[in-house]
Amino acid sequence: MYRETYLQIPGPTNIPKPILDALSSKAINHRGDEYAALMEFNVKHLKKVFKTKNDILIFPSSGSGGLEASIVNTLSPGDKVVAINMGVFSKRYGEIATSFGAEITWINQEWGSALNPNRLKDVLSKDFKNEIKAILLTHNETSTGVTNDLHALIRVVRELNHPALIFVDAVSSLAITDLPTDLLDIDIVVTGSQKGLMLPGGLSLISVSKRAWEAHNNASMPKWYWNFTPMLERMKVGQMPYTPVISHFFALKASLEIIENEGLENIYNRHKQNADAIRNALEELGLKLLVSDNKYSSNAVTAVYLPDDINYEDLSKVLEDDFNVIIGGGLQQLSGKIFRVGHLGNLHKPEVIAIVTSIEISLKKLGYNVTLGTAAKAASRVFLNN
Ligand SMILES: Cc1ncc(COP(=O)(O)O)c(C=O)c1O
Repeated sequence: MYRETYLQIPGPTNIPKPILDALSSKAINHRGDEYAALMEFNVKHLKKVFKTKNDILIFPSSGSGGLEASIVNTLSPGDKVVAINMGVFSKRYGEIATSFGAEITWINQEWGSALNPNRLKDVLSKDFKNEIKAILLTHNETSTGVTNDLHALIRVVRELNHPALIFVDAVSSLAITDLPTDLLDIDIVVTGSQKGLMLPGGLSLISVSKRAWEAHNNASMPKWYWNFTPMLERMKVGQMPYTPVISHFFALKASLEIIENEGLENIYNRHKQNADAIRNALEELGLKLLVSDNKYSSNAVTAVYLPDDINYEDLSKVLEDDFNVIIGGGLQQLSGKIFRVGHLGNLHKPEVIAIVTSIEISLKKLGYNVTLGTAAKAASRVFLNN
């Protein structure tokens, strides 16, 4: 019998039917008019989702490829860069820059907490000669379920009048949590196709400001595949420098139509409500969340400490076997300590109730003491009160 899968990892997400259908579109000439029209539509609508007038580039890669592209196109070996270690992905951004010869000043923030703007202020205010070229920020740290306050962080940079470029990894925040690129004057925003855009992995999408283009003209890190210049030149005529993932371009169009239909603000609100309902349910089950200050709780993913005597392998197996609900585990230093519930993309109230109830029953089956119905009630209360 066919059973729906609830893919509650923090991306890839459940793929809506119109996007799945679009993925099976026929192959077309990637140097023809139909592809050019597809490109024009996608770029125009992506600008709305990125909330920017900046150029948008699309690379056939996962999100990490986009992060690498942002570094090698704007920096030179020896450039001073600030990176944050507050989880797997913020650390990765800094590691990519390191591997191309950037000189990193690390800010180590406890995993599970947000970057404190004062920590950034301390580093920048010691940079008397304005030597720091770039600041790498992760909007939503997917490994911990923390969303940074970008407004507060960027305000620090502006108040100090520091000229560093601002890069934002928005892989797990774009089309999930508000990210006003132009309002905040962010130089580089990178995302991947498999999160808020609800496609499979395979595209990285990058917005590039005028200042980032100026930096690009002087950047000497090695690149060929990732070079922004030929990518922009070809995209302007509705092509790519090499063979694109055509199926994903059809799927991206379907995704952008779905997003336009629902409306960005409604999408942010739905994610917030689902996240609140899930967190409320998990807390009423007596579970402890990794993020203690809920001002920074992610609308994309929630990390939860495993209860004593229950391990991740057993919990994820019962959830998958009995309910077809797939959750994520802890990564690196959080492995074996937490589980993660993804609630991004195509997720709605009835599924939320089903998912928290599945977690509740699975925990009970593994010996956890809980009264059945607790999770559904707690999630329902959030929905009723909104
Ligand atoms: C915030 C963040 N940055 C970067 C990445 C890396 O993206 P990818 O796995 O598509 O390379 C991820 C993936 O989950 C992520 O969540």
